[in-house]
Amino acid sequence: MNITFQGHSCFTAELGEHRLIIDPFLSGNPIAKQKPDEVVCDYIIITHGHGDHVGDALAIARNNDATIISNFEIVTYAQQNGIEKAHPMHIGGAHDFPFGRVKFTIAHHGSTLTTDDGLIPLGNPMGVLITSNGKTLYHSGDTGIFLDMKLIGEMHPIDTALLPIGDNFTMGIDDAVKAAEFLNAKVTIPMHYNTFDLLNQDANEFIEKLARKGLQAHVLNVGDSYEF
Ligand code: NI
Ligand code: MN
Repeated sequence: MNITFQGHSCFTAELGEHRLIIDPFLSGNPIAKQKPDEVVCDYIIITHGHGDHVGDALAIARNNDATIISNFEIVTYAQQNGIEKAHPMHIGGAHDFPFGRVKFTIAHHGSTLTTDDGLIPLGNPMGVLITSNGKTLYHSGDTGIFLDMKLIGEMHPIDTALLPIGDNFTMGIDDAVKAAEFLNAKVTIPMHYNTFDLLNQDANEFIEKLARKGLQAHVLNVGDSYEF
């Protein structure tokens, strides 16, 4: 699996012949380098309804005739906005797609979309496990720490975990270190930080604190890829 950090919580992934994008927040994302109309993908995974995660999903889905995979509420919202290819799932459910297996997990957060017409409630927030070719990626979505991360790691040995460290809306560094201990992934990559001033964090501090626990981390700059 080859993943590329697109800034904030957005990652693209190459899974054999398939191209995936997770939480495609590009326009309005001050650190993103890729433009929404440059994205080539066949699947879009959305963890929750906040604007910095739904992002450009509808436009990217239309441009690529891509399938949106998310919770039932977000998929229904996409369908009501003219998206034909969409696959609803929910927390605890798994499904085999041509690129691999997707399973949604809990996340402790919100999931409303802010629109000109007000707030639209879009179900519960989620994290996601993607298993392809024997490798498992965990994208926690936006969340605080929770003890069930231990269970997630036990039931699904994780190769790479993507965890927020920005604090304020999600875990900060110290909670994310504890979360990484719970998950026990081979490698942990920080996300959801330095996008806005409010989320400024020192990723090296995260790496050093994980190293003290004997855990490996890897920082991706925007545009960097990581193969595992
Ligand atoms: Ni959020
Ligand atoms: Mn967010």
